[in-house]
Amino acid sequence: MHSFRYSQGQLFCENVSLQALAQKHGTPLYVYSKDTITGHFTRLDEALGELDHLICYAVKANSNLAVLSTIAKLGGGFDIVSAGELYRVIKAGGDAGKCTFAGVGKTRAEIVYALEQGVYCINAESEAELSYINHVAGEIGKKAPVAVRVNPNVDAKTHAKITTGKSENKFGIDFDRIGEVYARIASEMPNLEIRGLQMHIGSQLTSVDPYVEAVKKISPLVMEMKAKHHIQFFSIGGGIGINYKQSLDSGDAAWWQENSEVHPLTIQNYAESVVPLLKPLGLRILCEPGRFMVGNAGVLLTQVLYEKRGGAKTFKIVDAGMNDLIRPTLYEGWHQIVPLKQPATKETEVVDVVGPICETGDYLAQNREIPIVKEGDYIAAMSAGAYGFTMASNYNTRPMPAEILVDGDQAHVVRERQTLDDVLKGEHVI
Ligand code: LLP
Repeated sequence: MHSFRYSQGQLFCENVSLQALAQKHGTPLYVYSKDTITGHFTRLDEALGELDHLICYAVKANSNLAVLSTIAKLGGGFDIVSAGELYRVIKAGGDAGKCTFAGVGKTRAEIVYALEQGVYCINAESEAELSYINHVAGEIGKKAPVAVRVNPNVDAKTHAKITTGKSENKFGIDFDRIGEVYARIASEMPNLEIRGLQMHIGSQLTSVDPYVEAVKKISPLVMEMKAKHHIQFFSIGGGIGINYKQSLDSGDAAWWQENSEVHPLTIQNYAESVVPLLKPLGLRILCEPGRFMVGNAGVLLTQVLYEKRGGAKTFKIVDAGMNDLIRPTLYEGWHQIVPLKQPATKETEVVDVVGPICETGDYLAQNREIPIVKEGDYIAAMSAGAYGFTMASNYNTRPMPAEILVDGDQAHVVRERQTLDDVLKGEHVI
């Protein structure tokens, strides 16, 4: 589901023309649809309706304050991975008591901050970390609520760089050690309170099967930990994949059906498969979606600066680079490239859409058949709402793009474009 459509010859986000936004605010420009975010949250919330559940949005996917505030107002919690993300959540009006704190390398300062703010749970990823949290909590006179991330050794069948649930990945504690680790916490770590068990097997999962396999594998362990240590929750992590190939003219219903073959993981079949497995556990179920919530809710707008026809290829050189959207080069991420003005003909050409950065890996698309676009035209890289801006950098001393949140016919600047002085802030010559 998304709110990007061609209408009157132009691409719209909800009721706002993207071409008008690009002209007014300049490019590269990230634009998000509030309606799409709300729709995704509501749809997932309803799909999990039979369970006592909490959606903890994975802040790393898109951490703009306006996005976090939208989700907080819907009643969402947050999955955070740093003190910085917790700080953002609090600034956006989110509730620390609905936050789970993940990550393999939490520092003392982060543990202290999380405990002081009263996070719902710290999800630990190693025995060394558990001992350290116990130590820090004791020093500041707090009891730390903890869960352990279990590594179920299940193949999520996604890109190698975003697979996390295999034994060779750095995440979590091996499945068959969990019982022993929980017993150690109970007997040796008086400043910890065992609150739950967590898993996260990977990102951009396009089939429900790995979830089913992991939940089936972990469920007996969950029941055992419930009986022995009175855990309150089981978190099934995030990872719900999105469809990066979408229609821009058909309605939502048509889109889900149209793509059901290429993308068998829909929220309906996710819920139909996992809810019946989770319900008998009789626990609170947490879910940590990032990409599902915001991926298809955002686009990156960019302008074609030059065209270069080489011997082997035609390049469209645009003003957005890998520093603005690193997914294509880092994960072979595929983002649909569309012109903001609806093409008058069906004519296409095969091109590389490349950025201005001095690296061969600086591209948004390679060998891609796209409608004809000329110098000065604006195009959009679709489905860039997740892991787009949050992974952007100042490489090549390029200021970070502005971000816009569209709400109906209103477009709000929710982050201003950086100036060069912003980029240089804090640097000194000696
Ligand atoms: N929970 C945990 C513990 C995670 O590590 C992650 C993502 C999530 C939840 C949210 O996963 P999601 O629902 O968004 O798939 N930068 C990569 C994705 C990295 C995902 C990292 N962990 C990309 O652009 O594809």
